[in-house]
Amino acid sequence: MLHYLSLKDIDSLPNWVQEARSLKPNPKLYKDLGKDKTLGLLFFNNSLRTRLSTQKAAMNLGMDVIVMNFGSEGWALEYGDGTIMDQGSSEHVKEAALVISQYCDIIGIRAFASLTNKEEDESEIVLESFKKYATVPILNMESSVGHPLQALADAITLAENNTKSKPKIVLSWAPHPRALPHAVANSFVEMMQRQEADFVITHPKGYELSEKITGGCTIEYDQKKALEDADFVYVKNWSSYRDYGKVTNKDTNWTIDLKKLGQAKFMHCLPVRRNVIVADEVLDSAQSLVIEQANNRTYAAQIVLKKILESLS
Ligand code: CP
Repeated sequence: MLHYLSLKDIDSLPNWVQEARSLKPNPKLYKDLGKDKTLGLLFFNNSLRTRLSTQKAAMNLGMDVIVMNFGSEGWALEYGDGTIMDQGSSEHVKEAALVISQYCDIIGIRAFASLTNKEEDESEIVLESFKKYATVPILNMESSVGHPLQALADAITLAENNTKSKPKIVLSWAPHPRALPHAVANSFVEMMQRQEADFVITHPKGYELSEKITGGCTIEYDQKKALEDADFVYVKNWSSYRDYGKVTNKDTNWTIDLKKLGQAKFMHCLPVRRNVIVADEVLDSAQSLVIEQANNRTYAAQIVLKKILESLS
């Protein structure tokens, strides 16, 4: 039984990217694989792309899909062992995971970081609890620490647009008014560590990601220098990791415009705040790959579901 919790669950990134790309001309080729199988999608947080692309991918594989906005419609779950449940939680994850396992053959979970408790976030308490107590495979649809479906879609998009043997790829922080998690940036870094590329991360001082993720990567605090001769610029905001979950910088000098982008292709996972993260002129230009990235979410989800379904048979 294969779970998809992080990029570590991919045995060969180039092979998975190639297989995902090969699905595109005939997405329903494996429509019998998921026959009589049910995918349950549990959302503890909002979504557009993840919800619709994962549902579409499952439908392409012939699966039935049930979706629950767990964060707003489910009982508040308890995760602690031996807790006297006389406070806010109504149901323990033990029962919830076992019950849902009876209804679904695969369970997808979206549960963002709290950004208030680093230790608890890094323990991936929601994802790991479902993995522990469910009897079916678990699919990470963005957890506290990672967004491996997004990173796989980004790898597909890079493969489709890259023309060089060793492109220069820059991950740039950009400002945002709210505190955002580190998951997308983390998984992008982990994906880049599996690529042949000149990879550079740029952000203001104090916005270093976890060293457990970025160990060995080049970090350049001067954004202009980092962007020189870039082929791809992946832009993302994240809150401070050191001053955990805090917004300590909203410097709009880090916003990406066409002058900064140069000849590079622009990437972002979406949703994106126009003229905060990136100027209209970039998103509306032919250099933007954001719509392609969103399209590739379907094929990333489909190859992952295909692998999981194959592991069940
Ligand atoms: N990129 C991404 O995961 O989009 P959603 O949050 O809309 O699912």
